[in-house]
Amino acid sequence: MLIRTFAKNLRQPQKTIVGRLAKYFLIKRSRGIEIAAVEHCNIKPDYNVLEVGFGPGLGLEAAYQKIKGGKGKLLGLDLSPYMLEIAAKRLSEGINNKQVELHLGSVMEMPFETNSLDRIFHCNCFYFWPDFDKCVQELYRCLKPNSLMITTINYEKIKFSKKIGILRYGNIDVEHYMNVLSKNKFENVNMKTHKNESKEYQVISAFTGSKEQ
Ligand SMILES: C[S@@+](CC[C@H](N)C(=O)[O-])C[C@H]1O[C@@H](n2cnc3c(N)ncnc32)[C@H](O)[C@@H]1O
Repeated sequence: MLIRTFAKNLRQPQKTIVGRLAKYFLIKRSRGIEIAAVEHCNIKPDYNVLEVGFGPGLGLEAAYQKIKGGKGKLLGLDLSPYMLEIAAKRLSEGINNKQVELHLGSVMEMPFETNSLDRIFHCNCFYFWPDFDKCVQELYRCLKPNSLMITTINYEKIKFSKKIGILRYGNIDVEHYMNVLSKNKFENVNMKTHKNESKEYQVISAFTGSKEQ
């Protein structure tokens, strides 16, 4: 019962005791891959950057340091009002100076303009998307030509989480996710394993190409 509730809160954290536990779990477990995602995005101060499924906001916090004081904008999109509340506290400086905007919503229907983003990143989020094709088409639509989307994961941890039931509401099939990216116009989709302080993690890169045709 507890595992089931915890698993639901990983999919969409609620403001409850178990939701708070899920938040602490994410802060402890995901910090490394959130920061890695930002580093692999190679963000310049004038870039418009989006994180989908930002959770407690650690990745947004790192990305904000890359655009702070520049002309870029940092956007976040998440389904969970509780996560929005937590991340908004972490990003209060950027929100106040209008460089950061956090949105409540789903990657299924993104409130962003076509060809408006230089980078998108997400960590531990695609597992929960209800329709991979539709979500990937939305992400592609919002990215500018010749831009990049980064997905970071720790595949060993994810497989373990699936085994013990806390990712029972997620589809962790990475190969399927990558196939859907390629099928929906993303180019040079590839996954590489990297190491940080002897911990391995995977980075999936996907490029938009020229977007002509
Ligand atoms: C497992 S948490 C990961 C949070 C954070 N990226 C991390 O790794 O710590 C998944 C997050 O994705 C959000 N999420 C789930 N489905 C989503 C969707 N369809 N659109 C946007 N966000 C979604 C959840 O609300 C939650 O905050």
